[in-house]
Amino acid sequence: MKAAVCERYGPPEVVQIREVPTPVPADGEVLVEAFATTVNSGDARVRALRVPRGLRLPMRLKLGVTKPKQPIFGFEMAGRVEAVGEAVTRFQPGDRVVASRGFDFGCHAEYITVAEEGAIAKIPEDLSYEDAVAVCFGGATALNFFRVGNLAAGETVLINGASGAVGTMSVQIAKDIGAEVTAVCSGANADVVKGLGADHVVDYTTEDFTRNGQRYDVVMDNHGNAPYARIKGSLKPGGRFLMIIGDLWQMVAATWQKATISGGDNKTAISADSYRDLMSLAERGALKPVIDSVLPFADIAEAHRRVDSDHKVGSVVLTFGQDG
Ligand SMILES: NC(=O)c1ccc[n+]([C@@H]2O[C@H](COP(=O)([O-])OP(=O)(O)OC[C@H]3O[C@@H](n4cnc5c(N)ncnc54)[C@H](OP(=O)(O)O)[C@@H]3O)[C@@H](O)[C@H]2O)c1
Repeated sequence: MKAAVCERYGPPEVVQIREVPTPVPADGEVLVEAFATTVNSGDARVRALRVPRGLRLPMRLKLGVTKPKQPIFGFEMAGRVEAVGEAVTRFQPGDRVVASRGFDFGCHAEYITVAEEGAIAKIPEDLSYEDAVAVCFGGATALNFFRVGNLAAGETVLINGASGAVGTMSVQIAKDIGAEVTAVCSGANADVVKGLGADHVVDYTTEDFTRNGQRYDVVMDNHGNAPYARIKGSLKPGGRFLMIIGDLWQMVAATWQKATISGGDNKTAISADSYRDLMSLAERGALKPVIDSVLPFADIAEAHRRVDSDHKVGSVVLTFGQDG
């Protein structure tokens, strides 16, 4: 099969399409043929080893000291079950699914295997592979942080970095929960986030939301330029700060800042339950995919370049050439 292989850290060109062995499903595993995948901010971070301050060494130790231990990136994919291992009962060949191997990556390939009990869920009939995969990365992140942060109906939430993959899904999920949403993005993307349901928009190029006197029950930072020290004056008493991205010192400080939530258990965030919830939100129209661009799998380096821009709108999707 073809896979995008990255044998050293570096610019988008280090990602090369190669022929590699097709995986074989073990007992309890499902083999899925990919129809669509994404290049997300996590893939681009790992490729470039572009990590927040203080985290370079821990990341090298986790991901590979001199080169990536897992050379095939890709966090999620949508495709069709090709075969199942013995003992698999919940899936059968032909099922349309979204799937992830979490931080084992491997989804930038024509086939992946995933445990039946892992992060895999059926795609509703009316949802295309591209649309299904586009909601996964941002949607799973938003669901996880809003759950851990107990975002509730009637509360106010400010979402910084509202037009990216995590932001666009967060705006919609917060609205579905019943919160009042303030979205922070560039003016160019104001109409996008309003179209997703944002009640108020702050254009960060002309206004600093930390200095306008407004306070919120929840502040979510999807960009990394709004740490707790900067936003604490924007929280109501009892307010929560969802730190989607932070450096080592901010992570250490989070352990004694009562208001800061730095994520939950990754196994809960990227799970069958979470993917099933996302698919049902999409099925009932509460979660619309936001797709920046769709490129053929062969153009994966171009997709990485777009993600590196820091200004994509929603998800960058790659397709594998089938009609679906
Ligand atoms: N902790 C976790 O579990 C977790 C999970 C997923 C992602 N993440 C992290 O979350 C971050 C966001 O991921 P993503 O995939 O949503 O990224 P993304 O799609 O690349 O989105 C980046 C967004 O940031 C906005 N932005 C750029 N400059 C800004 C500024 N000065 N102020 C406010 N917003 C600004 C951009 O909006 P404009 O184009 O309108 O400027 C863009 O929409 C990444 O750092 C990623 O690594 C963490």
